[in-house]
Amino acid sequence: MRLTMIGTGYVGLVSGACFSEFGHHVTCVDINPERIDTLNAGGIPIFEPGLDDLVKRSVSAGRLKFTTDIKEGVDGADAVFIAVGTPSRRGDGHADLSYVYEAARQIASNVTGPCVIVNKSTVPVGTARAVEKIVAEVAPPHQVEIASNPEFLREGSAINDFTHPDRVVVGVNSDFARQTMREVYRPLFLRETPIFFTGWESAELIKYAANSFLAVKIGFINEIADLCEKVGGDVKDVAKGIGMDRRIGDKFLNPGPGYGGSCFPKDTLALLKTAEDYEAPVTIVTATVDANNNRKHAMVDRVVNACGGNVSGKTIGILGLTFKPNTDDMRDSPSLEIIPALQKLGAKIRAYDPEGRHQAEPMLPGVEFADGAYEAVEGAAAVVLITEWNEFRALDLRRIKANLAEPVFVDLRNVYIPSEMRELGFTYSSIGRS
Ligand code: NAD
Ligand code: UDX
Repeated sequence: MRLTMIGTGYVGLVSGACFSEFGHHVTCVDINPERIDTLNAGGIPIFEPGLDDLVKRSVSAGRLKFTTDIKEGVDGADAVFIAVGTPSRRGDGHADLSYVYEAARQIASNVTGPCVIVNKSTVPVGTARAVEKIVAEVAPPHQVEIASNPEFLREGSAINDFTHPDRVVVGVNSDFARQTMREVYRPLFLRETPIFFTGWESAELIKYAANSFLAVKIGFINEIADLCEKVGGDVKDVAKGIGMDRRIGDKFLNPGPGYGGSCFPKDTLALLKTAEDYEAPVTIVTATVDANNNRKHAMVDRVVNACGGNVSGKTIGILGLTFKPNTDDMRDSPSLEIIPALQKLGAKIRAYDPEGRHQAEPMLPGVEFADGAYEAVEGAAAVVLITEWNEFRALDLRRIKANLAEPVFVDLRNVYIPSEMRELGFTYSSIGRS
């Protein structure tokens, strides 16, 4: 089949590369000429493990190409996927759909035959209908149907998530769209992946409900972690103990500094806005959003307490800036709240992140960037581990301690074992382990 991907970000580029690996012919379109130049020169504009090899393979097989030209992009396409950003709208928290609507208009104006426009972007209930209306206004001379196909991949494991999903959700309201989407996902169907067809509204809501549910799960374990600290429990044991109940499951029960990233924060907010619009409150998500916002400030207090109540004039070494490991994405990372708050209290920040520096630097003024973990903690009054990159899991702790001015280790991801850290002579603070 001939597929087009509008947007070459974390979702569009991964989806385009994976679809072409399945054997489809894919053209990726982006309005950002630098992105397309980078891709056409053999580079990858984002960090996602395995993506460079995948893209190279499909490009040299002649099944994947990149262009800024929408006309060229949609020429002959059976399905055109919209994978553009839907950030929180400034001021009110609704999803900003302007990029989606613009893409829909451009696609409808350029189609050269019958095709399906597929919303892969995360979009609120009603968007498929709105896109249908845009297409009707443009009135293309060919049959154009709409499908809603939310994406569930995670950054850092995006290729595996895309090629081995738990399910594929497709909202349709025509046989043509259903048949086309069945063909698109045939390679996964052959692997027995459930392809779950629903109506548009359900498909749109499934995406927000899934992300919000996962956010609630993380928010829940974070609060249980706080309770563990008060009562003398160990949150790792509690999470394991509840996770063994298959009704609960053991995934997404790792406590930390609060969830971040390009999806949970904006999608929980957007769900709340939809709930508000339709007067059907989802109060559990409201509570989760509030708890997650407060949590980042609680992390700052934790660092200050570990430093004896004052960080003014002290250097704090930070390990990890991105919202999770194996990505360079800094969107809504907890580090963006924690670091400026520490700076406000007079701390000097020296930070190291394996892949996040190029995005982080303009977002974190006043931060000194180090080239490695040991350099980041040199002469520091404390080290704070914010993101659990693999290279922080087996640090030479004696070397870390020798480099620090004070042996204070604040581990916001529970990477290390409290008893071992104490034996090594650290004043060690972690999450939910008294
Ligand atoms: P992104 O910001 O990384 O990429 C979006 C790309 O779209 C940019 O390169 C931008 O230049 C391009 N673009 C915007 N308007 C365009 C147009 N009219 N024509 C061509 N290109 C255009 O975004 P992302 O993280 O890939 O997210 C895309 C969507 O997928 C969002 O709705 C997001 O919520 C959803 N999503 C993201 C993830 C994730 O892990 N990042 C996972 C699931 C779903
Ligand atoms: C998320 C969803 O998981 C994915 O299905 C959707 O398509 C996009 O949004 P992503 O944001 O890439 O994916 O990463 P994810 O692994 O879900 O982590 C999100 C945030 O939650 C990170 O800040 C992470 O550190 C945090 N998290 C996750 C926890 O604090 N504890 C956990 O147990 C899991």
